[in-house]
Amino acid sequence: MKRIRVAEDIYMLTMNVEGMLFEGIWEIGNGVTLNSYIVKGDKTAIIDGVIGWDGVPETLYKNLEEINVDPKDIDYLIVNHMEPDHSGWIENFKKINDDFTILCTEKAAKLVSSFYGDSTNIRVVKEGDTLDLGSGKTLSFHPAPNVHWPDTMFTYESDTKTLFSCDMYGSFGRMNEHHFDDEMTTEEVEFFETEAVKYYSNVMTTFTTMLKKAIEKSKEFDINIIAPGHGPLYRKSPQTIIDNYTRYSQYAEGAGKDEITILWGSMYGMTEKAVKFAESVLKREGIKVNLLEMPLESESEMIATVFKSAGVIIAAPTYEYKLFPPIAAAIDELGRKKVSNKAAFRFGSYGWSGGAEKELAEIVERNKMKWDFVESVEFQGSPKEEDFDRIEAGILQLIEKMKDKVVE
Ligand SMILES: Cc1cc2nc3c(=O)[nH]c(=O)nc-3n(C[C@H](O)[C@H](O)[C@H](O)COP(=O)(O)O)c2cc1C
Ligand SMILES: [Fe+2]
Ligand SMILES: [Fe+2]
Repeated sequence: MKRIRVAEDIYMLTMNVEGMLFEGIWEIGNGVTLNSYIVKGDKTAIIDGVIGWDGVPETLYKNLEEINVDPKDIDYLIVNHMEPDHSGWIENFKKINDDFTILCTEKAAKLVSSFYGDSTNIRVVKEGDTLDLGSGKTLSFHPAPNVHWPDTMFTYESDTKTLFSCDMYGSFGRMNEHHFDDEMTTEEVEFFETEAVKYYSNVMTTFTTMLKKAIEKSKEFDINIIAPGHGPLYRKSPQTIIDNYTRYSQYAEGAGKDEITILWGSMYGMTEKAVKFAESVLKREGIKVNLLEMPLESESEMIATVFKSAGVIIAAPTYEYKLFPPIAAAIDELGRKKVSNKAAFRFGSYGWSGGAEKELAEIVERNKMKWDFVESVEFQGSPKEEDFDRIEAGILQLIEKMKDKVVE
C-alpha cells in the first residue's frame, strides 16, 4: 500500500491488486488499484476503504500513523459504495475503533447492516448534506444511484474542490510511480485509456443510462481534482476523463471507434477461410481490424473490444442445430451488458441444415440488443467463389452502415 498526498490535508492510500478475477469473473492481466482517501480537518474522515484482505489492515494502520492519524481518532467513515472492494475492511476496523460514524446513502445503510451487522453508528445522508470537519474542510454528499450499485454516491470536498467519484471515472490497471494525469507519460495515458475502456465495458456498461445522469451531475461541480476509487487521479484535466466516459457511454449505445471487430470461432477451418478473406477485404478498405477468436480470447477482452468498435462481424458455424457455443455465449454476454445498436454482419459455414442464424436472432431479440444487421451469408462446407463475393458485398454494406456510428 502506498500513501500519496492529493492536496493539503488530503491523502490517498492506494494498493495494486493482481492475480485475481475482478468481481470473480473478469481477467485483469494488468491489475487494478483500490484507492482510499483520508481528509483531515479537526476531525478525520476516511472515504472508502480497501478490500479486507489479510495483512491490509496492518499496512493501512502503518500508513495512517505516518500521516499522524491514529486509527482510533478516525471519526467518520464515508461509504460512497458498499461493494466490498471499497467497504471490505469495516469489519476489521471495528475491532480497533468502535467509536466512529458511517455516512452513506439510505440504500447503503441497509446494506451496511446486512453485510457487517447492526452495531455500527450510521448517519444517512441525502443530496447536498454536508459534514464540516473543521479547519476549512467540508464534505458534501451527492447520491449517484446505480453507478454500479443502487447505493452509490459522490463525495465532494469544497476547500480543495475534490470530487471523490468512487467507481465512476475509474479504470483498471496497476499504478506504479505515477498517480496523477499530469505525471503520466504518453504510454501511460494510452495504457489507462485502454484499461478504462476495459473497466467501463466489463463493470459499468450495463448501467449506462444511470451513468449518463451521473456524468451530467458531475458537470455541476467546480472540480480541481477527480479522485476515483480505481485508477489515476485527474487534476491537470478532470474534463478529459469526463469526456472519455461520455464517449464510452456512446460506445455502449452503438457508437465506436473506426474499427471492425471480427468475433469468430471455427471447428475445422471452413468459417476460418472466410475470416481470412474478410480480414483481407477490410485491410484493402483501410479499416482497422480486431480479431477475437473464441473461446481462446478472454470474455473481458472480448467485451472491451466489441464495445469500442463501430462495426462487428460475427463469423461462426452451426453446431448441433445452433450457433457455435463460444460465440453464442459471447453474444449473450454482450446482451447482458446491454451493448446495443452495433452495426453487424454474420457469416458462417454449416453442414446440412444450418441453425446458427436462428439462434443468433433469438439471442439478439431476447437481450433487446437492437443490433443493425446486414443480411447474413451462410455457406455449405467450404466457402466458394460466390460465397466470397457475397461476403465482400456484406462487408462493404457494413462499412457503409458503421460510418455514422464512428466516434473517436
Ligand atoms: C459437433 C458438430 C456439430 C454440428 N452440428 C451441425 C448441425 O446441427 N447442423 C448443421 O447444419 N451442421 C452441423 N455441423 C456441421 C458444421 O456446421 C460444418 O462442418 C461446418 O463446415 C463447420 O464449420 P467450421 O469448420 O468453420 O467449424 C456440425 C459439426 C460438428 C463438428
Ligand atoms: Fe463497484
Ligand atoms: Fe469499485
